[in-house]
Amino acid sequence: MATQEEITKIIENTDMVELVSPYVKLSKQGKNYKGLCPFHNEDTPSFVVSQEKHLAHCFGCGKGGNPIQFLMDIKLISFNEALTELAKKNGVTISNPYQKKQEKDYSLFYEMMQTATKFYQQNLSMTKSGKKALTYLHQRGLNDEMIQEFQIGLAPSSLDSLYKVLKDANYLELDMMDLGLVGTSDKGYYDLFSKRIMFPICDEQGHVVGFSARIFDNPDKTQPKYINTRDTFLYHKGNILYHLHQAKTEILRKKRFILHEGQMDVIASTGAGLKESVCSMGTAFTLEQAYLLKKYATQAIICYDGDKAGIAASKKAIAIFKKAGIQVHLVLLPDGMDPDEYVAMYGKEAYVSYFEEHKLDELEYNFATAFLQKDLSDSVVVETLKKEVFEQIQKMPSQTAKEKYLGRLAEKINASKSSLSLDYEAFYKTVPIQDRNEPYYDDFYLEEDIPHLKPIYEDKLKRNFELRLFLYARNSKTKAVEIDNKIFDYMDAFLPINREIWITLINHYYMKYEQFDDQLFCSFLTEEQKKVYLENLESVRGAVEEYNDSDLACIIQKMKELHIKVQNETLTNQIKQTTDEKLKMKKLKEKYNNKKQTMIRRRK
Ligand code: UTP
Ligand code: MN
Repeated sequence: MATQEEITKIIENTDMVELVSPYVKLSKQGKNYKGLCPFHNEDTPSFVVSQEKHLAHCFGCGKGGNPIQFLMDIKLISFNEALTELAKKNGVTISNPYQKKQEKDYSLFYEMMQTATKFYQQNLSMTKSGKKALTYLHQRGLNDEMIQEFQIGLAPSSLDSLYKVLKDANYLELDMMDLGLVGTSDKGYYDLFSKRIMFPICDEQGHVVGFSARIFDNPDKTQPKYINTRDTFLYHKGNILYHLHQAKTEILRKKRFILHEGQMDVIASTGAGLKESVCSMGTAFTLEQAYLLKKYATQAIICYDGDKAGIAASKKAIAIFKKAGIQVHLVLLPDGMDPDEYVAMYGKEAYVSYFEEHKLDELEYNFATAFLQKDLSDSVVVETLKKEVFEQIQKMPSQTAKEKYLGRLAEKINASKSSLSLDYEAFYKTVPIQDRNEPYYDDFYLEEDIPHLKPIYEDKLKRNFELRLFLYARNSKTKAVEIDNKIFDYMDAFLPINREIWITLINHYYMKYEQFDDQLFCSFLTEEQKKVYLENLESVRGAVEEYNDSDLACIIQKMKELHIKVQNETLTNQIKQTTDEKLKMKKLKEKYNNKKQTMIRRRK
């Protein structure tokens, strides 16, 4: 971490106008400069830059700040990244006394991937075999501009051309293999990708970290359609989102993102003007990816293939988004089509208008998909359908919603509402008592009110929140006591051993000492506690940045949720074990009220 003096020096050495200019067209007005705000949509300029004060501020949306803040917001990078960039620019060196491990420098590997990308691109644009691939891409509706934008290339059919290019550039074989570009056999090194159209996959910062490679003129049906880079130290399929780097500005502007199934869909959507499109790479969508997206927007639109697999995958993605506190809408394309097919068939404009006019919420989507490919003239089919929809209705959050969908179902299957209601009552009685009326609590996850999570991902947060609190509490006694008061009621969210350590810290250590000292504190702990404490500490070194109040608020919110979860787990067990119906109902009510409480808290 830099010292305060170093930070001040960096701010003062930065020319704010020069820094802002690439993003905003500025014109001079008196002492200051003015332009259209890059952080929100506007027609009249309200973004003001003061060269003298090293500040930028938008009078429309309030965004702006010193050079570091501006760079963080515009490039969506962390404080440290912004600071380092500005320090480099201004020739200021920053001291790093607290940073134990130096961040790994991957620049060499990024360069290698870039070299490979360039090689594939040239091979597409300048060779005879490239012509064939280009024709294929053009046929699929990609123009040269898009091919350029997505850095699409072609892996040649020869065995080892990329290997040779990398070798000539003096890269090491081991590195080529580690990056998933080259393999080895007793005949020597060979390219892992050949005769395929290459789609580079970038990380959030825009470095190429992997490839997705599509077959295009091979009649061999046993070959997979796409081959993707296996997981490497640069590429982890579970936390990479195709096109996120290019889409993020648009995602911020539109306050929403679109999730597709494949990269051809992302390209088709982007080409049609929906530039906020991303997809996960040939694997199921993960919670980590949801949190990655949540940094930019909290509204998702899932637009997967309209076929059976696409619908099943959509439902999984809905659950993940809800878990991450992201509101979901879905677009279901007709006739099982994927976006790329729809654009090819009906054109860009038709696609965009279909898309914008057919955004369904989860209830609508589930209802609509229940009817797909069902022959309503077959009474057996109708009965299964009814059951499926009843199950949806049973879980709906309100009576009015239930009534609405019962009505719609009656209409669809041509039944009277009264007879259908009777059937529903009968169905309801078959639902086990503990499963009844479990509304879609997650629909109430209006997490906008939770202060914006810095990139703390939930799985990290889940346990790391304890460690974070320890780090906070080590800063000062006042802070520690303040935190303790706030989390007192939710302590069961802590792991038992961490709870013991925390209590020792507050009730014993800080009762005696004003200043914190690790060694001294350890003398208060048992051997086991000490071991855990030191391990905890070790595990967060370097990984955790500075703290702020919004992080803390976030942690407390999480703890409340975990606390309720723990309570409800106990209740669920009690409900399962008791045969006393009255007691069961009482516990159920308690559980329900607990859940309602979290809902209300979230809505406040
Ligand atoms: P799809 O089979 O739906 O392909 O796979 P697509 O996107 O419509 O591709 P085109 O239009 O035929 O070119 C969806 C995604 O699943 C992954 C790819 O990322 C693909 O984009 N996938 C598919 C694989 O990783 N391997 C495969 O063999 C097939
Ligand atoms: Mn397709």
